[in-house]
Amino acid sequence: MRKKLIAGNWKMYKTDEEAGRLASGIADGFDGSDKADVLLCPPFTSIKTVVEVVEDSPIFVGGQNMGWEKEGAFTGEISPEMLLTLGCEYVILGHSERRQYFSESDQLIGKKCQLALSLGLKPIVCVGEQLEEREADKTEEIIRTQVEGFSAEVDYSRVEEIVIAYEPVWAIGTGKTATPDQAVEVHKLIRKIWKEKYDKQIADGLQILYGGSVKPENSDDLLGEEEIDGALIGGASLSKDKFLKIISSAT
Ligand code: PGA
Repeated sequence: MRKKLIAGNWKMYKTDEEAGRLASGIADGFDGSDKADVLLCPPFTSIKTVVEVVEDSPIFVGGQNMGWEKEGAFTGEISPEMLLTLGCEYVILGHSERRQYFSESDQLIGKKCQLALSLGLKPIVCVGEQLEEREADKTEEIIRTQVEGFSAEVDYSRVEEIVIAYEPVWAIGTGKTATPDQAVEVHKLIRKIWKEKYDKQIADGLQILYGGSVKPENSDDLLGEEEIDGALIGGASLSKDKFLKIISSAT
């Protein structure tokens, strides 16, 4: 059985001091579990603090994004090695906010994914359709384009390290959540695409997270689904109590 992953994406919230306090509260409330891993993705400015705070706990730390080259003259960017040497093990790539506000394409996201994998950083690659696309019955086409688009840039030998997060854009930060059935349907589609592209064993091993207004009120139902291998959580991950409750749904 696949282990679940509960990941908090703090986005552009929390000063360094606030981030340390939140991480400390979460570390106090989570002792580890064989059913779920826990990951915190603070802003870059607090990664060092959060790594230090969770050092003696089983909690993982990750970046919310990274640059597409190993290093270079890219003002404002962060390299994968900078994340790794601070203690990160994961990186979120291609979040819909990166696609929308920073024009990230599937190809660029794939390039970042390949770079992360080649250096030993586990990528969580986000895919998801917009509301108009779902209403126009284009969910399958969009998901297929995104999954095939980014994975075309990735070496076969490394695909087993990839985590995919299905995040319907209409559910992110809106309070609207996909029903467990809606999420499961797309997770199955992603697994099917992975099987077509690679093989059954690789597809069966793929961890697929759901993201989009996951909160204590819906986490039991969503995480109760065998097909949902965890959650990527924005808003509710900023509250220690809410995040710990969601973790308990997975464990
Ligand atoms: P949300 O964000 O939980 O606030 O909807 C999810 C995400 O953007 O990863």
